[in-house]
Amino acid sequence: MALQSINPTTTKAWKKLQKQYDKLKDIHAASLFEADKGRAADFTIRWNEFLVDYSKNIVDKDTLDTLVELANEVDLKNAISKYFEGDIINETEGRAVLHTALRNDISNPVLVNRDDVMPEVYQVKSKIQNFTEEILDGTRRGFSGKNFTDVVNIGIGGSDLGPQMVVDALKFYKTDLNIHFVSNVDGDHVQEVIKNLDPTTTLFVIVSKSFSTQETLSNAQTIRKWFIKLADEEAIGKHFVAVSTNLEKVQEFGILPKNIFPMNDWVGGRFSLWSAVGLSISLAVGYNNFDEMLYGASSMDSHFKEAPFNENIPVTLALLSIWYNNFFGAESEAIIPYTQYLHRFAAYLQQGIMESNGKSVDRAGNRVDYQTGTLIWGEPGTNSQHAFFQLIHQGTKLIPADFIGFVKSLHEDKDHHDKLMANFFAQTEALLSGKSLQIVNNELKKSGLSTEEIEKLAPFKVFEGNKPTNTILIEQLTPKTLGALIAMYEHKIFVQGVIWNIYSYDQWGVELGKQLANKILKDLSTENIANHDASTINLINYYKENSDS
Ligand code: F6P
Repeated sequence: MALQSINPTTTKAWKKLQKQYDKLKDIHAASLFEADKGRAADFTIRWNEFLVDYSKNIVDKDTLDTLVELANEVDLKNAISKYFEGDIINETEGRAVLHTALRNDISNPVLVNRDDVMPEVYQVKSKIQNFTEEILDGTRRGFSGKNFTDVVNIGIGGSDLGPQMVVDALKFYKTDLNIHFVSNVDGDHVQEVIKNLDPTTTLFVIVSKSFSTQETLSNAQTIRKWFIKLADEEAIGKHFVAVSTNLEKVQEFGILPKNIFPMNDWVGGRFSLWSAVGLSISLAVGYNNFDEMLYGASSMDSHFKEAPFNENIPVTLALLSIWYNNFFGAESEAIIPYTQYLHRFAAYLQQGIMESNGKSVDRAGNRVDYQTGTLIWGEPGTNSQHAFFQLIHQGTKLIPADFIGFVKSLHEDKDHHDKLMANFFAQTEALLSGKSLQIVNNELKKSGLSTEEIEKLAPFKVFEGNKPTNTILIEQLTPKTLGALIAMYEHKIFVQGVIWNIYSYDQWGVELGKQLANKILKDLSTENIANHDASTINLINYYKENSDS
């Protein structure tokens, strides 16, 4: 059954939230701590290796209760059941949304069109496991008999961002294989990657759910040609494997059926790293670590399904984000992991969040008259502190931020880790409390400035504070906690899509550009071009006149 269509702005809770916004908009979050001594503890959720402190938000207990009422009024509980049970909730594509089945235990059936998908999920998992083990122990070798040393993942979007983010995030757990990623149709990307590779020891994994994506097929063809020049056609069978739903097209490309890792249409590209799309992850960190990541995600799935909304991490984060997006008019959210290993995390979530919830038509087909998907951006701390934090602290925009940190470091360098975490705690404290004019005046006085100089300088040194943050403090960066962290954001996306009454699992908005690019590609070798706006015609002609022939 499909999801219901309820305009969230027509709910009683929405109207109450509007009133609560009027009450809270001029209140400083720091004062909420003074009024409620138990706030820090009450506004913290502890779950497995996670501690999520959301007390540094501009909310009080009433608002949180009303946000939960909003979730109840749109029947979130029922929507969650439909999501996990394989209902066709991606209605515009006529598909279920079942990335959660990929990490589900085989003993819990998940039905799609009355068939249990779990046996197939486990078949593919065991294919990933066997393949990984055979590559790592040298049972499977290249055409010249040498062991594989390098793997190139050829894909784009969800067929690239997820695996790449995880391979970097779990570098600490790395096997002996070096993993490379080619995604951009820019030929410089593929050339840079292959220039130092030895074809006799390199495995190529072509990842494309549709097997019709221009970038991936072009890169795969370029690599195939390069490979054949140095090896021969037969060697392809040993060096090229593919992950796709489109088995016919993969075989047309010349990949042997035994080298195809299938995936299902009920897995969205941006949620597919749990499927065979994660093959390069398994090769990078070993199958057991890959499976641990699935286990971590599955634990978060259980938490999300079972925990009451006011103790539920993804639900709470989603509701707070709606509070700022729809009532405070915040346009973006920053995601700041305090670990260099997660340096691609924000880029990965940009696709997950913005491709999912960047929609302006509701589930009844009407244009929405409220804000939906947030802009997502971020970089690891502490680097980001020295880059864009100035704007978060003293700019004119409200930018709620998630701070993700780890209690234990991986390399056990306490000195570095304490410094890192001191910055982690300092930033959220500064963003909450700011620095008052009085403190600034005292500081400047102590430094020996005159009254006149103090008056001149003080306004620039005042920090208003009251900038909302969530602190997500996790025991350690492991495959399991990473899996749970990714799943946490996946469920946040789902909750927001349900409340905004949009379809989160299609992506029609990227199609137009693809169609036009194909048309323009033809135009680049056509004499007289038409059917474009005047600006585009001028630009294409300028390019044709000046590009290499
Ligand atoms: O950008 C659109 C998109 O369809 C993404 O959703 C997807 O992850 C990406 O292209 C790649 O698609 P495919 O895996 O089919 O090559």
